[in-house]
Amino acid sequence: MSTTQTAQPWWRRGAIYQIYPRSFADADGDGVGDLRGVIAHLDHLNDGTPGSLGVEALWLSPFYPSPMADFGYDVADYCDVDPVFGTLADFDELVREAHARDIKVVIDFVPNHTSDRHPWFVDARAHGARRDWYVFRDGRDGGPPNNWCSDFKAVGPAWTREPEGDQWYLHSFLPQQPDLDWGNPAVEAAMHDLLRFWCERGVDGFRIDVAHKLAKDPQLRDRRPGERPPNEDWEPEIHERLRRLRQVVDAYPDRMLVGEVYLLDLRRVVTYINSGDELHLAHNFVFLQLPWSAAAFRSSIDGFTALSSKIAWPAWFLANHDHARVASRFGGDGHGAARARAVLVMLYTLRGTPFIYQGEELALPDADIPPERVVDVDGRDPERAPLPWRAPSEAGPGAGFTTGTPWLPLVAEAEHLNVATQGRNPASALRLARRLAWLRRERPALQRGEQRSVEVHEDVLAWLRIETDERYLVLMNFATQARRITMPPDLPPRGTVELSSDAGREEGDIALDALALAGSEALVLRIDP
Ligand code: NOJ
Repeated sequence: MSTTQTAQPWWRRGAIYQIYPRSFADADGDGVGDLRGVIAHLDHLNDGTPGSLGVEALWLSPFYPSPMADFGYDVADYCDVDPVFGTLADFDELVREAHARDIKVVIDFVPNHTSDRHPWFVDARAHGARRDWYVFRDGRDGGPPNNWCSDFKAVGPAWTREPEGDQWYLHSFLPQQPDLDWGNPAVEAAMHDLLRFWCERGVDGFRIDVAHKLAKDPQLRDRRPGERPPNEDWEPEIHERLRRLRQVVDAYPDRMLVGEVYLLDLRRVVTYINSGDELHLAHNFVFLQLPWSAAAFRSSIDGFTALSSKIAWPAWFLANHDHARVASRFGGDGHGAARARAVLVMLYTLRGTPFIYQGEELALPDADIPPERVVDVDGRDPERAPLPWRAPSEAGPGAGFTTGTPWLPLVAEAEHLNVATQGRNPASALRLARRLAWLRRERPALQRGEQRSVEVHEDVLAWLRIETDERYLVLMNFATQARRITMPPDLPPRGTVELSSDAGREEGDIALDALALAGSEALVLRIDP
């Protein structure tokens, strides 16, 4: 097993687990998760045994000092920890404790914008030396400089007029998140220094927030209706900037960059990973937008493979802190939980790195947020509800997340959808996620094997993973009813069930031809080479 573990870079080997620190675990009882809460639960992620999730790395969403207008994506100091989350000493301990468990630490890097309280912006606003670190422009006809809108619909124009001044400043998100001007070399140099600061502290990788926004039309031309940035005209500049970020981290051994490349065109997404000198991984948002259909997933997966270079490596994910959870997104007809389990099987067995958002290992749905508890400007509270660790009947209403009042309500189903209860139940989503992770760790074919799509039924997504004398077949039934498959003649007649998302499936040797998959079942089979 150790040869398998070292043959590949860590960011290809196993899952990267996203922690949204506000909602993971609260150690000090103030109702908001914190770094000491993360430290206390690292064994859940990987304690070196199959009783844990066996993750390769954790990705921490922002923990920096912040006024929290966008819950940490408005950074007021890139080199410290917000008191609500703890201290730099806590962070150092987190890195030490994670590394002691062979867990790499990836942090969120937010280079497109700062908080309006960041000293750089405070200086810029006061017409100081950093005025040109941001995008201040004169208005047009009494209004903003152009027609650009914030990515947050509720915000409207991407420009705010200075209260004491005649100019407007650009913000792709909230007015409290002014965009930096990456056309200014001083901004880029400052960003490089920040990466070095965290690399020196032992951080293993960075998730680059809105990586696709690192260059904008310098002429600030109006956007056409429906046009999303970036326009292809200035994308080459983004690639150059990412290449230079890569050079900075490449000065340190074994560091990784994963980009939030929010482009809905696979041909463009792959350009960020195909050359091998920019991002190591790019989150694929096309995948996240797919309808629940075998055909849609098949063509998206095959399309990505066809467009990828030999060295490109996919990053698969279907949930994060900005999007509805899988069990809810695909749950309108009552089959969300079964589908969330099947998705776990898919993410761990596709060729590529699985990104698992906290709670997906429990097949957690979104929480219901009553109007008076809404805190996010863009409707993302439901997927950010705190993680239930224990049954409320045992641990109180904070469900082991907090002893205080949680900052957002927990899911109504916390009594059975929590880590402790699911850990005791061999049929649970959590136990399935653990088995998947350790299966992948132990089987080179699942970790790094070649992948080939197989046609078995129009409702069933099927693929082979192959590595020398090892072969696996994964079957995923998108229908809610059972489906009988037809095996291609070049595959053997029998296989061995490794695991299934359906707790009713018996393990052992089975005939493949005319095999019936249960509704929403995903099945991993070992077959003869
Ligand atoms: C993407 C982040 O994932 C999201 O949470 C945030 O609001 C925006 N970028 C702005 O930083």
